[in-house]
Amino acid sequence: MSRSAHTPVLPDEVMSYLDIQRKGVYLDCTLGLGGHSAEILKRNKEARIIGFDIDEKSLMEAKKNLQPYADRVTLYHSDYRYIPELKLDFPSVRGVLLDLGLSSFQLDDAQRGFSFNKKGPLDMRMDHRNKTTASKILNKSSEKKLAQIFREYGELRQAKILAKEIYSRRKNNPINTTEQLLQLTEDLCRWRPQKGKTHPAARVFQALRIEVNQELKNLDTFLEKIIKLTPPHTRTGVISFHSLEDRIVKHTMKKLASSNKGSPLITLLTKKPVTPSKNEIQENFRSRSAKLRVSRNL
Ligand SMILES: C[S@@+](CC[C@H](N)C(=O)[O-])C[C@H]1O[C@@H](n2cnc3c(N)ncnc32)[C@H](O)[C@@H]1O
Repeated sequence: MSRSAHTPVLPDEVMSYLDIQRKGVYLDCTLGLGGHSAEILKRNKEARIIGFDIDEKSLMEAKKNLQPYADRVTLYHSDYRYIPELKLDFPSVRGVLLDLGLSSFQLDDAQRGFSFNKKGPLDMRMDHRNKTTASKILNKSSEKKLAQIFREYGELRQAKILAKEIYSRRKNNPINTTEQLLQLTEDLCRWRPQKGKTHPAARVFQALRIEVNQELKNLDTFLEKIIKLTPPHTRTGVISFHSLEDRIVKHTMKKLASSNKGSPLITLLTKKPVTPSKNEIQENFRSRSAKLRVSRNL
């Protein structure tokens, strides 16, 4: 099989943990190009998908990819955090999936500015309706705010130094392109390629992307709300790609599974996160940092 841009991560594990053989609705909260949804629809002829993506371009691609199943698919251009406010058929839901972060489709598009390996404008918005771009943050935020973004979302030791350098360079030369930010990071971190070491720009770009899209905001409250809205036995799976996200998922699921405050709402189906096999990582490098956690409603 050719490895196309919408190859889903942990496909068999997601299908098995979400127990997708059950008739009903599956909410794909982060549809991307519809890779996981296509698998559900292909494997279960009685499954319906309600899919959401904050990125309109991705949603259009997903629509094309899911065309063979169009009569069982409803799509929304929406932030998943608004799902609880929508009038959906929640009692028919059997599974909920969040596959967080970016798709290769977004990462590979130089004009969107997500990748430090591609020359382009520092945009980084998943939702084009968002007024805040990465360059706006870099050129307008206070030095203190920049340091906070790099420390909290990039877990960078050099957060303060980096913020200071950006603040001083931008006075004469606003930072508007991926090359400028890459160069600045390399100058500052005295970067030399070393086997097995991640490029420091990866964390700088990650931090900015999280801030632009407010990626961690309300993930915990969303999980709690969707679990309360869906019927018993609904399975909720979350795939995260970095420790900041995974920490939120882990703590929220643990809290909802504990009987500390009232009765528990869920049971955890994954005591430890499920990670991709060596084989999958070899075939789909993007999967290397994926962690899947799954719960079942009580
Ligand atoms: C890793 S991709 C999903 C890939 C998908 N599972 C597949 O198999 O094709 C993540 C997607 O989530 C979307 N996304 C990120 N944050 C979102 C949010 N708050 N609400 C809705 N979609 C979001 C991104 O635009 C991206 O398309």
